[in-house]
Amino acid sequence: IQYLKGVKYLFENGIEHVPKKYILPASDRPNFVNERSHGADNFNLELPIIDFAELQGPNRSEVLNSLASACENYGFFQLLNHGIPYEITSNVVDVSKRFFELPFSEREKYMSADMGSPVRYGTSYNQTNDDVFCWRDFLKLVCHPLPDALPHWPSSPLDFRKLAVSYAKEVKFLFLMLVDAILESLGLMNKKNKTEENDEDEDEDKNKEEDEDEEILKEFEDGSQLMVLNCYPPCPQPDLTLGMPPHSDYGFLTLLLQDEVKGLQIQHKENWVTVKPIPGSFVVNVGDHLEIFSNGTFKSVLHRVLVNQMNYRISVASLHCLPFKSIVQPCPKLVSETNPRHYMDTNFASFIEYLKSRDSTKENFLHSRK
Ligand code: SIN
Ligand code: FE2
Repeated sequence: IQYLKGVKYLFENGIEHVPKKYILPASDRPNFVNERSHGADNFNLELPIIDFAELQGPNRSEVLNSLASACENYGFFQLLNHGIPYEITSNVVDVSKRFFELPFSEREKYMSADMGSPVRYGTSYNQTNDDVFCWRDFLKLVCHPLPDALPHWPSSPLDFRKLAVSYAKEVKFLFLMLVDAILESLGLMNKKNKTEENDEDEDEDKNKEEDEDEEILKEFEDGSQLMVLNCYPPCPQPDLTLGMPPHSDYGFLTLLLQDEVKGLQIQHKENWVTVKPIPGSFVVNVGDHLEIFSNGTFKSVLHRVLVNQMNYRISVASLHCLPFKSIVQPCPKLVSETNPRHYMDTNFASFIEYLKSRDSTKENFLHSRK
């Protein structure tokens, strides 16, 4: 069946109409008509901006407040001045493009139905369960532990592994710095700032708390990292389909690199709004696990992707979680009598089970944990 070869294949073969398999029911389609009649500006959103360099400076506490407010009210923010050299981010976008430009016979080698495979090329969102397909091809790369995964990554283009690895390492480091800030913005990091008046007992309690906080960070260092390279070829009828259906991300935090072509929409105040790409920045979003961990303070917000007739769009998402076996639960320090626990425990394995059994375009994992 043609559509199982992916949308890049359909596009290369000069398709003029969206095949039936991709046509969404009218109620799920993007509403371009509305956008035209109300003026597109109402549907564009400038996300809150977090300046990473400023976060490391004397204004840290103000930036932490903005960070917390972005995670509460948008579930998303744009990260500027993140310190990853432009060469590294532009190279990973470029090599992703070149991967999707390889002949189908080459890409096909990485197609797999095995969710646990260290490398997986595919199309749509979850091609085994989706009733309606999405206008997206993807390459998923397991990045942790890297020495085990790397030999399975594509060896073509020749510089693929080199460029993707250097990006994956940088983004992991940035993620850990962000986790540190996020925990602090939730009031969880008790940094070593002992005052002279502190008596010994207090010091002891403080030290214990510090150790707990350090432990969470350590767990994230060993956590899983998944990189998803997305390819959205031009689509002859973009009003009939989507690049990705509405979903929330299952992990803790996602760092997304998008090229200059817009497409990502988030749900904000009950509207779908388009995120304006800022070159050189990251779009960062709260995942389901962070919503659970924060006991609902931070929101894992639904988002989707539009396609268009003219431009090829590439994005690279890096998804970060606790280790595969860790239990994800509301942080005990954020649960109290006045703010009882809002979510059940979960782990990565139960998410995989969920993915295998459900059409994730129709349901949401997070809601199954409330
Ligand atoms: C996502 O990973 O949910 C969004 C990807 C994109 O904007 O292409
Ligand atoms: Fe997502």
